[in-house]
Amino acid sequence: MEKIKLGKSELEVSRLAFGCMGLGGASWNKEDLLTKEDELVAIRAVETALEQGINFFDHADIYKGGKSEQAFSSIWEANLVDRESIYLQSKCGIRFADDVFLGSAPHYDLSYDYIMKSVDDILKRLKTDYLDTLLLHRPDALIEPEEVARAFRELKESQKVRYFGVSNHNAAQIELLQSYLDEPLVTNQLELSLVQSNLIDEGLNVNSLVNPGDYRNHGTLEYCRLHQLTVQAWSPLAGGLLAKGEGKEPYAQLIQTIEQYAREYGVSAEAIMIAWVLRHPAQIQPVVGTKTPDRLKAVCEATQITLTKEQWYRLYNSGLGKVLL
Ligand SMILES: NC(=O)c1ccc[n+]([C@@H]2O[C@H](COP(=O)([O-])OP(=O)(O)OC[C@H]3O[C@@H](n4cnc5c(N)ncnc54)[C@H](OP(=O)(O)O)[C@@H]3O)[C@@H](O)[C@H]2O)c1
Repeated sequence: MEKIKLGKSELEVSRLAFGCMGLGGASWNKEDLLTKEDELVAIRAVETALEQGINFFDHADIYKGGKSEQAFSSIWEANLVDRESIYLQSKCGIRFADDVFLGSAPHYDLSYDYIMKSVDDILKRLKTDYLDTLLLHRPDALIEPEEVARAFRELKESQKVRYFGVSNHNAAQIELLQSYLDEPLVTNQLELSLVQSNLIDEGLNVNSLVNPGDYRNHGTLEYCRLHQLTVQAWSPLAGGLLAKGEGKEPYAQLIQTIEQYAREYGVSAEAIMIAWVLRHPAQIQPVVGTKTPDRLKAVCEATQITLTKEQWYRLYNSGLGKVLL
């Protein structure tokens, strides 16, 4: 699989990243325990990802109340791969209501203390000494960038984290934070798929008041390209759009177009969804979240094809509420 540089870092990461949110069983409750079966699912999924050439694994401290990271760590005992041969990313900053250190309302927390503690906990669960990248999961309205800068500096000096990035941040939030940091942020992870393409819609409707309230990115995609932050696309399969059942109806036209191109290219429908993200010249890295080995293989077919501009726009236009003048 083709590799790209992650932002301005030295990391040569695979074109597709594997999203680990689906690992660790079904429960998000911290009190529930990881099972042997959860470990096996994680091992099989990671093994398939490695076979397909994926070397980049995306985590967050909150996924399944920490069990996603724990389940992933079973790959070490299974001897699937050396730590140095892969890249591990995790995120912190979201605190749930059942957080034992909080005991009240859910909130975002990018304080020095919380970042430092989160990283130590992540490293323990992943059974590793370092993260290749740490992302701030969501913007914190009460962010004090000096605190983040202190945490990042100490994490770098102690070699617990190599590079830093953000997730779900807009251009202005990145610019504010960056002005306090010693090193460039390398990535911004945002939702992007044929179903949720707000990042792109905004740029296509600059001068038309279609749904003005919908656009809150303020040129974030262009900002990331200009400053060489790799955009990582979360939920690029729209969390299972192609699955049969309820919710499919509003996207009937989109699914029909996806299936038509899948037939024409001789690849899976999932691959077409991912190829649509890959076709964007910003070299966006899709973070694919399927833990099902066959589906993951089907997704990876996306790297074998390149959609034409016309096909890219036709897929875009088949989505709900897209307006091209
Ligand atoms: N930064 C953020 O705020 C944020 C938020 C959400 C997610 N993420 C990251 O992005 C990654 C991917 O997100 P995601 O898991 O929401 O999205 P995704 O990759 O769009 O979808 C994967 C999910 O959809 C299911 N699925 C996909 N195609 C399907 C099909 N044809 N039939 C049935 N089920 C299908 C998969 O089930 P199976 O596993 O059973 O195949 C899996 O649960 C996560 O793992 C996480 O790393 C980040």
